[in-house]
Amino acid sequence: MISNVKLTKLAPQGKRMIEWAELHMPVLMTIRKEMSKQKPLKKLRVGAALHIEAKTAALVRTLVAGGAEVALAGCNPLSTRDEVVAALLEDGINVYAWRGQSEKDYYANIHRVLDHRPDVLIDDGADLISATHANRPELIRKIRGACEETTTGVNRLRIMAAGGALKFPVIAVNDSPAKHLFDNRFGTAESALQGIMATTNTLIAGKQIVVVGYGFVGRGIASRAKGLGAIVTVVEIDPIRALEATMDGFRVARMAEAARIGDIFITTTGNIGVIRKEHMRRMRDGAILCNAGHFNVEIDLKGLASLSVKRRKVLTDVEEFQLKDGRRLHLLAEGRLVNLAGERSLGHPMEIMDMSFGLQALGVEYLAEHGKELEPKVHDMPAEIDRRVAELKLKSLGVGLEKPTKEQIKYLRSWRLGT
Ligand SMILES: NC(=O)c1ccc[n+]([C@@H]2O[C@H](COP(=O)([O-])OP(=O)(O)OC[C@H]3O[C@@H](n4cnc5c(N)ncnc54)[C@H](O)[C@@H]3O)[C@@H](O)[C@H]2O)c1
Repeated sequence: MISNVKLTKLAPQGKRMIEWAELHMPVLMTIRKEMSKQKPLKKLRVGAALHIEAKTAALVRTLVAGGAEVALAGCNPLSTRDEVVAALLEDGINVYAWRGQSEKDYYANIHRVLDHRPDVLIDDGADLISATHANRPELIRKIRGACEETTTGVNRLRIMAAGGALKFPVIAVNDSPAKHLFDNRFGTAESALQGIMATTNTLIAGKQIVVVGYGFVGRGIASRAKGLGAIVTVVEIDPIRALEATMDGFRVARMAEAARIGDIFITTTGNIGVIRKEHMRRMRDGAILCNAGHFNVEIDLKGLASLSVKRRKVLTDVEEFQLKDGRRLHLLAEGRLVNLAGERSLGHPMEIMDMSFGLQALGVEYLAEHGKELEPKVHDMPAEIDRRVAELKLKSLGVGLEKPTKEQIKYLRSWRLGT
């Protein structure tokens, strides 16, 4: 818990951080302006579990401007910014989180959000939705639906839906092109590398970087690391993605082989145990291991601990594990999201979260209106919302969009017209 004294001290800084973020989130601010006039979320209770940072506060304040009452918990024990919590609490928002909370407190706080009996949920990783189904089934009837922010959450929810366990509709915000093409790819790429550099002060140019997974997150990190001068190796299990990485000009290798090469390892798979003991045994002295996937399961942390004869914190968010033969492996941010969990990691750039949270705000509005009509399964975001967010973003960037002529529209709709 953050003490009251600390809260009072931190709140002004939190407010300045939120102000700075809002200045760079024109899409969300346009949506806020409209919502504050029309109040489409009047009397709606929103329960959310998100990374609590300044950009998230901008979303929460938008929902409140639209008339909603919001209760918020974190979606990761390490990614909460206490300054932002303090500022939101001062504004009367119910926030249940602090940086470095224990796993027990993390789940207790999720339940505190559910105590508000929400009508709509916003989740990032599906812990809030799964806790509702597993422990609070009495709330399900009231819930109109939920929006899920990330790939791992959407995967979990699809498994729930396939097994008939999902009892209310969920919009897969992650699957919107306006989300994953920008957030997962450009946002995670810049912020993961920022997090690694700020935490370690290491040079990227000339380094051997191993990116495990070549999905949206992996592609982004690989391309940006290459742009900074790194020599990048990709590890994949999917033949199409491995081929894509090869043709994008990356070396593709098995983990056992890549383990010998890497100076820095970044996992981006959403899968468990992708770097294991047998790989760690092959790594160079001084290798850095970190994760950009949603949960801290990608690097076998127990395996790493069991291999080491000595461990110590060498810098904030850098833990050194010494192996029997004296080699040292360095783990960043306890194997949690390196772009968000590190004390010096700034999270996704504001301009990226502008789009992702623009989608979330409009997704909540959509569920408030149509949630009760939707089947209990994972739904795509309505295409018009996606388009609207992209158009608002282009407008804010001053980028013109070409309009098709009448002839072109007719041509594109006809199968009779050939050469
Ligand atoms: N750090 C962040 O801020 C952030 C942002 C967006 C998404 N994410 C998370 O990042 C993860 C990846 O998201 P994505 O959108 O790129 O998913 P994705 O499904 O597009 O990509 C994951 C890739 O990993 C590969 N993979 C799976 N197991 C593997 C293994 N054992 N070895 C090598 N490759 C393997 C898959 O074949 C796939 O190509 C998810 O957990 C997601 O929730 C994090």
